Amino acid sequence: MTPRVLVTRHVYPAALDLLRPHADVEYRDRRDGETASELTARLHDKVAVVCQLTDPLPAAVLDAAPELAIVANIAVGYDNIDLAAATARGILVTNTPGVLTETTADFTFALLLAVARRVLDADRFVRDGRWQRWEIDLLCGVDVHGKTLGIVGMGRIGRAVARRARGFGMRVLYAGQRDAGEADAERTPLDDLLARADFVSIHAPLTPSTRHLIGARELLCMRRDAFLINTARGPIVDEKALVEALREGRIAGAGLDVFEREPALEEGLLQLDNVVLAPHLGSASVETRTRMCTMAAENVVAHLRGERPPNLVNPRAWEQRRQ
Ligand code: GLV
Repeated sequence: MTPRVLVTRHVYPAALDLLRPHADVEYRDRRDGETASELTARLHDKVAVVCQLTDPLPAAVLDAAPELAIVANIAVGYDNIDLAAATARGILVTNTPGVLTETTADFTFALLLAVARRVLDADRFVRDGRWQRWEIDLLCGVDVHGKTLGIVGMGRIGRAVARRARGFGMRVLYAGQRDAGEADAERTPLDDLLARADFVSIHAPLTPSTRHLIGARELLCMRRDAFLINTARGPIVDEKALVEALREGRIAGAGLDVFEREPALEEGLLQLDNVVLAPHLGSASVETRTRMCTMAAENVVAHLRGERPPNLVNPRAWEQRRQ
């Protein structure tokens, strides 16, 4: 029987072109998401699912999918999937690392520059017809070059951000378990980084130990003239505490691409004028998002051919399936 594959929502069609010669593809070509119980109903006869970071795959959903062998997430993060439960059931989980590294680092710098140099204020000012003359202190922001960037989480994306920072003549500090590799950066404990950095940028995965890593206490450790940038995962920052810190001027501003309860925003966030907000766009270039879709499809195709998927995040499940 042809294996049945679910594609949970709208994707770049190149992914479907890869899958269709190998599988009977159920494509839900919609942009809205399904709840865990709706996914449960769709997955009962599927061997594989190509899903996105907003699709919840807790243990209960996996339990209702007896034939499910592979979950291919179109994202580098996979906190939407209960990885331990998948591994215990021998279900392979794959992600899309590497391809989005530079794109996400670019967007991190877009947010950093936008908030430091007030790019959005400037755009609104011109559009509102308020531009009358050149003035010495009109819409002045702060410099980025020559400042100190603190990177929380020195993985692939953290290192790509560090490379950009060197191009801007910034000093780079980092906190995290991984070594900076070739990036010219100083490793330091998180509290020291927070106390010294002009810009703090988060590049850690969301795990139980990074949830609310930046809370009220950490925000207090930051300098009053410092900015927080988050292109990683919203729940790494306590958003309520962040809104309070921004409102009270305990930090200078923030550039946020991710939020605790996307797409809902913490009350008060929209009223603040020292934040730049984006709807989770870190990897959102046509080239990168297309490649992420095809990578997820390639992982499924590899599995259907009996091969090890190239972007496996739980090798133990692979070992289990081979026994
Ligand atoms: C996006 O947030 C991703 O994890 O790829």
